[in-house]
Amino acid sequence: MMQLTRGPVEAMEAAATWRAEGHSLALVPTMGALHEGHLSLVRAAAAKCDRVAVSIFVNPAQFSEGEDLDRYPSTPERDLGLLEKTGVDLVFAPGSRDMYPAGFSTWIDVEDLSGRLCGAFRPGHFRGVATVCCILFDIFRPDVAVFGQKDAQQLAILKRMVRDLRLGILIVPCPIVREPDGLAMSSRNALLSPVERAEAPAIFSGLTRAGELAGGPGAVSAQEIVGRFLEALSPHTALKVQYAELVDPDSFEPLEELDSRGLLAVAVHAGSVRLIDNVLLERGKGIVEVWNC
Ligand code: PAF
Repeated sequence: MMQLTRGPVEAMEAAATWRAEGHSLALVPTMGALHEGHLSLVRAAAAKCDRVAVSIFVNPAQFSEGEDLDRYPSTPERDLGLLEKTGVDLVFAPGSRDMYPAGFSTWIDVEDLSGRLCGAFRPGHFRGVATVCCILFDIFRPDVAVFGQKDAQQLAILKRMVRDLRLGILIVPCPIVREPDGLAMSSRNALLSPVERAEAPAIFSGLTRAGELAGGPGAVSAQEIVGRFLEALSPHTALKVQYAELVDPDSFEPLEELDSRGLLAVAVHAGSVRLIDNVLLERGKGIVEVWNC
């Protein structure tokens, strides 16, 4: 029977009981409006540990002024039904005051990785993500926490936080789950107009075309790879590229050329909806999938 709690103390107690009984625990942090991508994280969590907790919390601290906090999709009933069917043991759905009591003033800033790519366009975003995950990790003390590779920079930041603060949690990345037309699944896809939804799969086709350049034996410049992506997107007038960059998959430092592996990461606006996506490229192979759970 799935347990639902809004209180951090109850969640803490449930996790502590499991630990005392000798169970391992995996946590899947989410902001709700769940889709198949989230469910793949839950399944990966269940394969790693014998208890699975999912948090549902639209974290205000990771949205800045003017972003889509107020219209972030919310489907609470449906989410609970899906999680129950997927075999989750506990859902933690706190309110803002549970997570950030009055007077809250402690923040986690993973300085090295937070300023580039998404961080350059969403000031404070990763500080909000790192802080809320740190609070969740403290509540649950999980053995494992599972995150999707679509938010590749978030994953790298959380791995670094866990390492730097010696939290002793295994961060498990899971592959991006795509719609049949290639669009990366995202809760924000629900906000797309029919025209934007029809054009949005061009993001993944652009990444695929750019990835083809990596398939040859020779070195290829980041400029050529990014140029190929931009060229593929240019006929799609509903889409505006915010950034497209080839970066080192671990440090997120920009690469001049693809010597071995590189992450081609992009953010694209479809109207007012911001979508992110990425592919991992390997010289001589093209797009590679190594983000096994
Ligand atoms: O990826 C998300 O949904 C959020 O950034 C997370 C990790 C749940 C933190 O609010």
